[in-house]
Formats: sequence, structure tokens, C-alpha cells
Amino acid sequence: MNIRKTKTAFFCQSCGSKSHKWLGRCPSCGEWNQYVEEEIRDMPLSEAGFAGFDEVPVPLESIEADEKDRIPTGIGDMDRVLGGGIVRGSAVLIGGDPGIGKSTLLLQVLLNLARQGRKVLYISGEESARQIKLRGNRIGAASPHLLVLVEVSLEKILLHIREVKPEVVVVDSIQTMYSSALSSSPGSVSQVRESSEKLIIESKKTGIPVFLIGHVTKDGTIAGPRVLEHMVDTVLYFEGDSGHAFRIVRGVKNRYGPTNEIGIFEMGERGLTEVSNPSALFLSERPKGAPGSVVVPSIEGTRPILVEIQSLVSETTFGIPRRTTMGVDHNRVSLLAAVLEKVGGLHLGNHDIFINVAGGVKLDEPAVDLGIVSSIMSSFLDRPIDAGTVVCGEIGLTGEVRGIGQVPSRVREASRMGFTRCVLPRAASLEIPDPGITLLPISNIRELQESLF
Ligand code: TYD
Ligand code: MG
Repeated sequence: MNIRKTKTAFFCQSCGSKSHKWLGRCPSCGEWNQYVEEEIRDMPLSEAGFAGFDEVPVPLESIEADEKDRIPTGIGDMDRVLGGGIVRGSAVLIGGDPGIGKSTLLLQVLLNLARQGRKVLYISGEESARQIKLRGNRIGAASPHLLVLVEVSLEKILLHIREVKPEVVVVDSIQTMYSSALSSSPGSVSQVRESSEKLIIESKKTGIPVFLIGHVTKDGTIAGPRVLEHMVDTVLYFEGDSGHAFRIVRGVKNRYGPTNEIGIFEMGERGLTEVSNPSALFLSERPKGAPGSVVVPSIEGTRPILVEIQSLVSETTFGIPRRTTMGVDHNRVSLLAAVLEKVGGLHLGNHDIFINVAGGVKLDEPAVDLGIVSSIMSSFLDRPIDAGTVVCGEIGLTGEVRGIGQVPSRVREASRMGFTRCVLPRAASLEIPDPGITLLPISNIRELQESLF
């Protein structure tokens, strides 16, 4: 008789790294208390169902692949974040908080594809067919080409995919999938890794693109293994909170297109719709003439979008002054506050600073430095910034305002949205011969105050 000893190992539930003994703190991601004992596969790969791709070496030039091979989803912003449509044989991971709209978006994508006459398969391990139907009714899904499968067994799913041969597959969610090759429970690192691995291999072999939906933990990473991010070709994250109607889908990794590209959607009664003019959306609730509020033209992916940064600077009542930020990097704000104190002469040492980017947008390019500084200054001095002004520029440690990229398109967007003045780095102002709005070039934050107020 062939008795196989069960082998186990410990896996970090946060990043997926493996250890032979339990560890309190993960050496690779630094998280505490994440190690859980799980069974590991102790059989040859071929027995586990994977016997490689069965391919032989071929000359590169004889391989057929075409950019036109992409399948357009028909949803403009979705195509944009994917880099121009769905690439055949690619695996896309979509992460986001529960309830943010992952299932809705992908059902809409599939529905659009089905309307083009393509056979598509939506596999759900979370909801019953009835629940999916009800959601489908809301978004108007009715097409004979859209097939739904409620299943969690990976082996059965693979059989169905082979039998149905759909053009696109969605797996909602990867954390519910279960392979009988392993005894650990669904959602555990080894199960998630095993299921994704098999699905990705199947997709590479058959050329059927697969979307994997993944839940995200509180700290903003895909629950379970971060290794999943390395396995797939494209990673998209849903941003924005469910308190607001709009949602941002951001590409954080893309083997077939630009990263950091975003798609902006609005959640309505009939599912998600694209937002055609994002700047207008983000500025719609702006309090004009309020101290602490400023507009920055930020480049998101390949396009400029105007967003509002708000600051509240108030005297610290006791203890250490606080710097609380939402949407911008905390350390960056501390640094800029120190520069303002030292070079700008603002006494922020006994003031709390709260910063928020309106609408739950996350800004991470240095070009918004000048916006952060301007809004802190405006709140501290209690003087509003002219409502027709935008600011952009990076700030160095000595208070110098440094050049940034893509200034002409930022200025164009500001002008398109009716802004009349733009404070920007002196070096960058030379790039724009015919701006259409008043340029206020500065080279140091000491000059900022004059141009703002
Ligand atoms: P869902 O796609 O189920 O989120 P996820 O799969 O990321 O968990 O989205 C559910 C939310 O979206 C829920 O709060 C209801 C809301 N919603 C609408 O507002 N309008 C709609 O047309 C649909 C289908 C959902
Ligand atoms: Mg869902």
C-alpha cells in the first residue's frame, strides 16, 4: 500500500512566505502573528494535475501574437486600465473591499462581451445563482451567451471551463475556491495559491483570459497571499469608499500596458457607469473661498485630473502635534511641514495638521507637494486661495520648487475646467509658450505666499 506522510509547513497569511517552524513575526513582510500551519503538496507535480505546458522550443519569429488580439470590453475605462482591452491568455487580479463593486463591474464586463456575441462564463463561489440573477436584473443583464456557474471545487471548475470553452472567465472570488489536492480550508494561503496557479496555467494553455476577484484586508492588501500579485499578469485595485458613489479602479501592475492608469466609475441604481469628466466630479463639492482648500492638477496614469486638497491646521491642545493624512503620504506631509517651518517661517510646531484629498482619491506623485504646502499655508494663515488658481510642483528640502513632468497637459486641463491661474515651478513654465491661462512661476516656497494671496 502506498501510504503518504502528510507534510505540513507554516505560511504567513499576509504575504505567503513559508517556514518550517512557527514564527511570531514574518521575516519577509514584518507582520505579527500571521503564521498558520498548512498541509503542503507532497506529490509530484504531474500527479497534482499539472504536467507543464507540453511545449517544445520554437523560434520567436514563428509565434503568432498580435496587439489586435485584445478583446475590447466595450467599457472605455476598463479597457484603459487593462491597457487597451483584455489580452488573450492573461490573468487579471481585481482586489477591493467587500461591497465596493467588484462583482458588479465584472458582471457588467461579461454582459458587454456577451452582447458582442462572445460566450463568457461567470463562476461564483459566493452567491447563489438567484442572487446573481437579481444583480443581473439591476444592470440589465440578459444574454444567452452569459453563462453562470455556482461552484467552489477547482477540479470541477476546470472541467467546466474545458467543456464550455468560453472566451472570458471570471472567478468570484479566488478565496472561496477549493482544491481537493489539499486538505486545508478555502481561503488559506495554500488553497488560494493552488487554485490561482491552476486557473492561471489553464488560461495560459487555452488562451482564455481569466479574471480573479480577491478580497482585500484592512491594511489594503489582497487577503491571503500577496504572492498572487506576482503570479498574475495584471493587478487592479478598487479604491474609494462605499460611502461615496464613485469608484476608482487603478492598475498597479500590468505586463501588457501602462500601470497606474485609472478608471473612474459611478455606482448608481443600474450598476457602474463611466465618469466622462472626472475633474468636474472631484471638484463638484468644493467650498470656494474656504481657507485650506486648493486644487492640484495631478497626473493619474496618462491623464491629468484636477483634485482638491484640504487642510485644517489648528493649535495643539496638549502633547505632541498630530499630522493626520488621508490620500497623501504621511511622511511626506511631516517633511513638508518641517520645510514650511524652517524655510517658510510658519510656526507649525505647536499645531495639529489634518489633510484630506476630497473624494477618497490617493495622490502619490511629488508634483502635489506644492498643493499640500499651499493648503497648509492657507489654513494656517486663515486666508483663502483664489478659487480660480491651481498649483503644482515638487518641493525640495531647502524649500526650492522643482520641475515636474507633463506640465503642458496639467495646464491644459486646468484651463479646460475654467481655471485662470497656475502656480508652477519656474523651470516648467518655459515649456508652455501659449498657456491660455496666467502662469505664476516660482522657484522657492518663500515666493509662494505672494503668488497665492
Ligand atoms: P458588489 O459588486 O456586490 O461588491 P463586491 O463584489 O466588491 O463585494 O457591490 C455591492 C454594492 O453595490 C452594494 O452595496 C449594492 C451596490 N449596488 C448599487 O448601488 N447599484 C447596483 O446596480 C448594484 C448591482 C449594486
Ligand atoms: Mg462580490
